[in-house]
Amino acid sequence: MNAFGAEFPQVRQRRTRSSSFARKLVRENLISTDDLIYPIFLIDGTGKEIPVDSMPDICRISIDNLSRVASDCLKKGINAVALFPNISSDKKSEDGKEAYNEKGLIPRALNLLKRDFPELGVITDAALDPYTTHGQDGVVDETGYVLNDPTVTILQKQALCYAAAGADIIAPSDMMDGRIKGIRSALELEGFVNTILLAYSAKYASSFYGPFRDAVGSAKTLQRRGKETYQLDIGNISEALREVELDLKEGADIVMVKPGLPYLDVVRAITTEFKVPTFVYQVSGEYSMLKAAFQNNWLDQKSAMLESLTSFKRAGASAILTYFALEAADEIKKRSWG
Ligand code: PBG
Repeated sequence: MNAFGAEFPQVRQRRTRSSSFARKLVRENLISTDDLIYPIFLIDGTGKEIPVDSMPDICRISIDNLSRVASDCLKKGINAVALFPNISSDKKSEDGKEAYNEKGLIPRALNLLKRDFPELGVITDAALDPYTTHGQDGVVDETGYVLNDPTVTILQKQALCYAAAGADIIAPSDMMDGRIKGIRSALELEGFVNTILLAYSAKYASSFYGPFRDAVGSAKTLQRRGKETYQLDIGNISEALREVELDLKEGADIVMVKPGLPYLDVVRAITTEFKVPTFVYQVSGEYSMLKAAFQNNWLDQKSAMLESLTSFKRAGASAILTYFALEAADEIKKRSWG
């Protein structure tokens, strides 16, 4: 008892916080370079490295620059990349058929990566938005409504095209009903039994994708039309769990939540309810928001970046798609925090 009559605490939670070694020993979650996936924007042509204005330090690169980025990733301990195409407007069409051109930008990038960097995991998106003149993820009717079943047929072709070109993981990001089943059946039929399906199951109709749409060029084609008729409503969580359940039944190997930070509750709900690998996408808007603060010295880049990534681990995510991957890997290697 002290002079004022208060009992001294038996339990002092601060004991294990009082030194760096103890904090390290009791730390529950730690981000590792094994958890990071680096998204890469590709563009046709050679010698190109075009900055994305709304995403500081991020460029669209031509395929001849891809080897440099891929070897950089491997050197830093990043084992997987995700490819996104920015194709010229003359290759865009109503039905997005460039999506399954076997000589298209993504298949050519896959051929190169699988030849020169076979140990690097390569993820490709299955969705039509970079390829359509209207910027929607599927084909539309005369009112602009995205048609489900005709879109799934095209996604099947796109998935087969990418699998044949060597994609390790195909990630349907379109939110059509039944697309996992459709793509899984097509892959099995064609003998691609080990192609992993990473389903963007809990993909919200979010305003945080804005900078990405600049990067792939769908902001212009989409104009101000939204994706609310297929992506999840931002207020819903039960519906996200139902999407996950369906995608798993249909043959997804891994599920994903997107965006990340504003939807950590969804990550936690999924990882608690379903014992499956769950990825999270720290999307373009989250990146740009943080980068803007870093550039103004309003936040410290190293600590805020690692804190945001650690929050995904704490919520139960197994891997994270993040535009910070390269910078985060450098900091993780130094292990100079805590
Ligand atoms: C395409 C797709 C989007 C993103 C990944 N795949 C955009 C969208 O749905 O409009 C967003 C990624 C990001 O914002 O970083 N279907």
